[in-house]
Amino acid sequence: MITIEEKAYAKLNLTLDILGKREDGYHDLSSVMHPISLCDEVEINLGTGEPWQVVADWEHIPHGRKNLAYKAAKLFFERSGKDPDGLHISITKRIPDQAGLGGGSADAAAVLRGLNRHYDNLFTVKELEEMALELGSDVPFCIQNRTVLAKGRGEKMVGLKTMPEAYYLLVQPDFKVSTPELFAKVDDFPFPSHPDQGEMILGLEQGNLITIAKNMTNVFEYMLLADHPELEKIENALDNCGAMGTSMTGSGSVMFGVFDSFNFAAMASMSLMKVGYKTLMATNINPEV
Ligand code: C5P
Repeated sequence: MITIEEKAYAKLNLTLDILGKREDGYHDLSSVMHPISLCDEVEINLGTGEPWQVVADWEHIPHGRKNLAYKAAKLFFERSGKDPDGLHISITKRIPDQAGLGGGSADAAAVLRGLNRHYDNLFTVKELEEMALELGSDVPFCIQNRTVLAKGRGEKMVGLKTMPEAYYLLVQPDFKVSTPELFAKVDDFPFPSHPDQGEMILGLEQGNLITIAKNMTNVFEYMLLADHPELEKIENALDNCGAMGTSMTGSGSVMFGVFDSFNFAAMASMSLMKVGYKTLMATNINPEV
């Protein structure tokens, strides 16, 4: 039996703008996406001689065929024509689901990446990203885990200078968000403002965390604020604890604050936990993943 291990990193949307509905029903977006150190661990065993199995250590995460990691493996073996002679994928979850952190997408991309490495890079990165898009809009980003400006459905990516040293405090509100349900309401929503992608990219180029933090904007947050005033409370709490900027990631509901010091982020985490919030800390990842 052969074992392949891959880390599946979470992402943050430093900016997220919806540009309009497309003919295929999806939306064109524009988003600066950044990978962070919070990760799931994906273990792939080949040659088990048994029917395919996909399991995760969190009960509510779909197992078997319903898990996106299963679909990723199926797609890889269909396209490659290889036969693993039985497969078992085991996912150790740490990335909260339905949170906007791209956890399921990261797991699927880790499967594609791990299998491709095992089969001597049978597919190019571009081919892997194309396969990834068949699995979901966020999956192509998770193939390379670099800071990008993503357009189209999220698959048209331009590499950006990565974040300077930063610490992220993620705060989980006590509700989850269904991405398709939120997208279904997006077309009629009057957004009060949009992210300034130029300023965000300038901040990254200059390695200026102040400019970056001040320009974090996610239009989905406007949509959720009306029904979930708790989000504003979390932002205020993060501000009061010294966050340089705050925003929501993806279609939510996780909020995050950016700090330039680990200690400040850790102190903020303790303050927020004391008043009942669930928090997670993360930093940047090594780009060589
Ligand atoms: O691609 P994915 O399966 O992650 O998308 C989930 C849902 O989110 C889609 O069915 C679609 O309704 C919506 N979506 C969209 N435009 C995007 C990405 C997702 O409308 N760029």
